[in-house]
This record gives sequence, C-alpha cells and structure tokens, in this order.
Amino acid sequence: MKQPNKPPQVHIETFGCQMNEYDSELVKSLLRKSGFEFTEDRERADVMLMNTCAIRENAHNKVYGHLAELKAVKEQRPLVVGVLGCMAQNLKEELTDKQPLVDILVGPDGYRQLPGLLTKALNAEEQGLSRRGLAVDLSEYETYDDVLPERDEGINAWIAIMRGCDNFCSFCVVPYTRGRERSRDPEGVLREVEASVESGHTQITLLGQNVNSYRHGDWDFARLILAVAEVPGVQRVRFTSPHPKDFPGALLDAVAGHPNICKHIHLPLQSGNDRILELMNRTYSRKEYLDLAAEIRRRHPAIALTTDIICGFCSETEEEFLDTYRVVEEVNYHAAYIFKYSERKNTIAARKFPDDIPEEVKGERVSRLVDLQRPITARINRELIGHTLPVMVENNSKRSPDQWMGRTDTNITVIWSKSDIPATVGDIHPITVLDATAAVLMGRRDATSVNA
Ligand code: SAH
Ligand code: SF4
Ligand code: F3S
Repeated sequence: MKQPNKPPQVHIETFGCQMNEYDSELVKSLLRKSGFEFTEDRERADVMLMNTCAIRENAHNKVYGHLAELKAVKEQRPLVVGVLGCMAQNLKEELTDKQPLVDILVGPDGYRQLPGLLTKALNAEEQGLSRRGLAVDLSEYETYDDVLPERDEGINAWIAIMRGCDNFCSFCVVPYTRGRERSRDPEGVLREVEASVESGHTQITLLGQNVNSYRHGDWDFARLILAVAEVPGVQRVRFTSPHPKDFPGALLDAVAGHPNICKHIHLPLQSGNDRILELMNRTYSRKEYLDLAAEIRRRHPAIALTTDIICGFCSETEEEFLDTYRVVEEVNYHAAYIFKYSERKNTIAARKFPDDIPEEVKGERVSRLVDLQRPITARINRELIGHTLPVMVENNSKRSPDQWMGRTDTNITVIWSKSDIPATVGDIHPITVLDATAAVLMGRRDATSVNA
C-alpha cells in the first residue's frame, strides 16, 4: 500500500487534556525510533492516528465526527486508521464494531506495541493478514520512564510524573481509562527536565491526576517539585492537578516560597454542597475546601486559584447548586472551567445514580456560573492595570504576528506589541498592563526596568 522504500507517514491528532498531549509526544518518539515519519498534511498520510478523550460525551462526539470524515478518505486510498487513548481504552471492541474503519485500538498503557501493530497493518494486505490490532490491557507498572517524548518547538514541556488514578470520583471515567495510579521514578523525571531545558523548553508543567499522591521511596510531590525548580535553566514550574482532600503544607510552602514555582494553584471544587460532594466521592466537605482556599490566600495572597465545577450532577437540587454558586462568589477564582454533568459508562455514578437533571437545567446552571465568574475574572485582571509584571514570552499572538503572547506566573495571558523592544521566546520581561478584559491583559514592555 505505501510507496516502497519510503518510511510510512503518520498524521496524529490529539484531543483531551495535557496528559494526552504528553502521551502523543511519547507515541511520536516510539514511532520515530521504529522508522516512521510524521506529516501535518492529511493527504500524504499512510496512517491517521487520533489520541482520544472520554471525559464527557462531547469529547466522544468530536472523535466520531473526525472518523466520519476519514471514511470518505479511506474509500479513495489505502489508509490505516488508529484510535489511541482514553476512548480506545474505554470502548475497546465496541468502537471497532461501531466504526469498522478503525484498524487499530491502543489504550494509554499499550503504546510500546503501536509500532508493531502499525507495521503489521501496513503490510497486512500483501501478506493476506487482518489489519486489525488491539492493545488495550492496562498495566500497574508502565510509566514510559525510559521514553523521551518528542516535543514540538516552543518553551513548554509537559511532563507526566505519574499515570492513572485511584480516586474513583463517582462521575469520572479516568480510573477506568488510565488504570491504577503509579508514580514515576524521580530520577527519570529529573532527567527529562534536564533534557527539556537542553531543547529550550524551560517552562515545565508537572502532570498527574492527583499530584498530591505522588510517592516514590521517600519522595513526595513537594520534594519533587522543589528538585525540578532547582534544575539549572528551569525558568518556571507549573503543576496540575492537586486534589483538595490531601493538600500538603509542604507543597504550599514550595509554591509560596520558591521563585521558580508559579503562583497558581488549580484546585478542582466540582461542587460546593456536602451531599453532592459525598455522592461524587470527593472525600472533602465544603468547609474543608473553603478552609484550604483561605489558608492558601493567607500564606500568599497573590496565589491565583482556578477550579473545575460540574453542574447538574445526579439529583442536584436548585438549593444545592446555589451552594456551589456561593462558593464561587466567595473564593474569587481567577478562572473556572464549568461543565454539564455527562454520564460516563462504567463509572460509579452511572451504575448507582440516575442521570436525572434535565439537559436544559444543567445548561442553565452552567450559564449562571459562567455569568457569575466572568466579571470576577475581569475585575481581577483590571486590578492589574498600571502594574508591571514579569511575563514569559511564549509565542506570536494569535491575533497578529506583530504582537507577542506570554503569561504571568499566575497564568494570565498577556499581549503586547513586538515593536516596543526586541524580545526572544523564553525571555521573561517586565510588562506594564495597560488594559484588561476577562480573557487577556494588553501590555507594554517596560523600558525602565529591562533587567527586572
Ligand atoms: N484529575 C483531575 C481531573 C481530570 S478531568 C482532577 O481531579 O483535578 C477534568 C475535569 O473534568 C474534572 O475536574 C471535572 O470537573 C470534569 N469532569 C470529569 N468527569 C466529568 C463528567 N462525567 N461530566 C462532566 N465533567 C466531568
Ligand atoms: Fe477523575 Fe477524580 Fe481521578 Fe480526577 S481525581 S481523574 S476527577 S477520579
Ligand atoms: Fe485526559 Fe480525557 Fe483521558 S481528560 S485523562 S484524555 S479522558
């Protein structure tokens, strides 16, 4: 099927969270070692891979949409189609039964098998074999510790420090798609940080479903993040996500005290009502969450808090929703990611509780929270007008190649004109905020404090 002597060309698309972005970089590295090449151009691809997400129904629908498009392409020319990631793991054969055009299914712990499965599929026709390939066994050990991800250009390195999740929040599919929680060897993480710095990726984001449960020998997450922040050349360290149930004081000390660790904590709330939190199996109460948020603010008032919230979880009443609303009013989040509850197959909630809140009610609750949060974000951003902040230059702005885009260490996007003073991606510059919306800060490079 593919041209002889030409390495097979792979096109890969990634959906879902940063963990999936990271996994796609691992996949690229594994395939490159086995002689595959990559193309942005779908027309030239011998293999199309989709690294998928299963967190909510709309994540599934996006993938089905893309698969429908591929059907037409596959009718015109030979093409191997592979579905990777959380949806492959969750739906397994059901996906290939529903979508016969899918040849290969590989879950998050099966990526080492991918080169072999693709080679077999690419040569299947001439050898009279089936193209079908499956690697959907979960592992208790796989951390890909020896695989150095193939990163795109830029300054951001996402690094998984652990895989899987043992929390079993009742709404969540991740423990089923990514299996048991396991922590990577800190040596491997630190080696990867050093390699990232060498390739210019000096802003490191450490990833785990609950970084607070990172354990390896006598290493915990606070010790690991401090060690990462000390690697020569590392400019900024971010992390996501800590779970509010077990936020250690030592981690708060690290965030508050180390200049390279960004002053931003993503602290998923999910609900502000105790009965719903219990049904969700979150194992903290509204009061414990609020006390933790207050403690973070007391320790370092400039730490920005962001959150995730689910509206319309099974049996959530209007009064219980209002408890969440009041927490959002109280905490002053820099940003909140607000979702309609989406029932996921196999989860505890799907087995035990009816998904009984009408879609319109879920949607209306989401809108009310979005309408509450937007002006809070805008106010926090506007309070920065006139201040000069250290901003790391990340990329051209999406709006114009004549503008830079960067982020404050509290994770707010800043845009400023390139004509002000020359800059290079990865520099940290003092930017004076001139204007602000809920989405971005508009700034000017501050000439008076160039060395800040
Ligand atoms: N491990 C991370 C969450 C990863 S999923 C953590 O605990 O912080 C990201 C977010 O998706 C969750 O915080 C939750 O708000 C949302 N989410 C997860 N499952 C969902 C579902 N079934 N319906 C709607 N939102 C969901
Ligand atoms: Fe899902 Fe909860 Fe694990 Fe986060 S901590 S991945 S929400 S089960
Ligand atoms: Fe991430 Fe989606 Fe899987 S959010 S962990 S890619 S289900």
